Amino acid sequence: MDGVLMRSCAVYSETEQSKLPLPVEVHARMRASFRLTLAAFAAVVSLTLLSARGPVLAASNPQAPAAPPAGSPPPHYNFPAPTNLQVLPKTMTGEEVHAIMEKWEGELGSGCRTCHAVDTKNVGPNGRPRLNFADDSKEEKRTARMMYRMTDKINTDYISMIPNSDQGVSCGTCHRGHLGPEAFVPPARHEDHDHPPAPPAGAPAPAAGR
Ligand code: HEC
Ligand code: HEC
Repeated sequence: MDGVLMRSCAVYSETEQSKLPLPVEVHARMRASFRLTLAAFAAVVSLTLLSARGPVLAASNPQAPAAPPAGSPPPHYNFPAPTNLQVLPKTMTGEEVHAIMEKWEGELGSGCRTCHAVDTKNVGPNGRPRLNFADDSKEEKRTARMMYRMTDKINTDYISMIPNSDQGVSCGTCHRGHLGPEAFVPPARHEDHDHPPAPPAGAPAPAAGR
């Protein structure tokens, strides 16, 4: 069991950041996540049993296709269970955390290593160090936790109070694909929008189409 989980850490080696089209609405699935965890556990156990039997079958029948070599990378959807969640629900599966991480990556226009520290003692098969995702040493990771709490509070305490509100705030609402949100510079023409010079009495309204 541990062996399977450890090997699946290869998923996270730097050049292997997968771009799976994972569902974005993870929150809706959170209630089911405990059952998912059990299902994932059962799946991992049966996979382990299957792969343990593989070499035996291959040895007894030389014509059988070779079993994948031991230690070959697991499928990309086999993400290890998180061990250090402090703001995301602790019931989240590895897949659910990964889906959120991919979303943050896109919304902040940054990579996994922007927030996650390199583990120089854990070198992947490609010779490059892997990231230690549970490690909290990078300031960006700690800031992201605070940002998550802030975003959650904005949505639950404020946005949801807007009658018929159907759109929440996300990281991307402010970040717009940048790690540091760019200052908003209103278009120059805006200046005469709120406080237009008093038009001469009877003059036509300024043209629409801003
Ligand atoms: C903007 C910062 C940020 C980016 C970018 C980011 N992460 Fe994270 N990641 C976090 C934070 C913060 C947590 C901890 C969440 C918590 O405490 O609940 C986390 C947690 C994780 C965990 C769970 C670790 C554990 O065992 O608890 C994994 C796995 C992970 N990230 C993978 C990734 C991957 C893969 C990428 C790139 C696709 C990525 N992250 C990009 C901030 C980030
Ligand atoms: C309401 C707007 C807003 C939202 C929503 C928001 N952020 Fe931020 N974030 C900011 C601003 C503004 C800064 C820059 C603060 C500064 O540097 O003065 C920032 C900074 C950060 C930084 C530090 C960047 C750096 O240069 O080190 C990280 C990481 C970050 N945000 C992650 C997130 C994540 C992850 C989310 C969603 C969970 C999020 N933010 C949601 C406004 C927002």
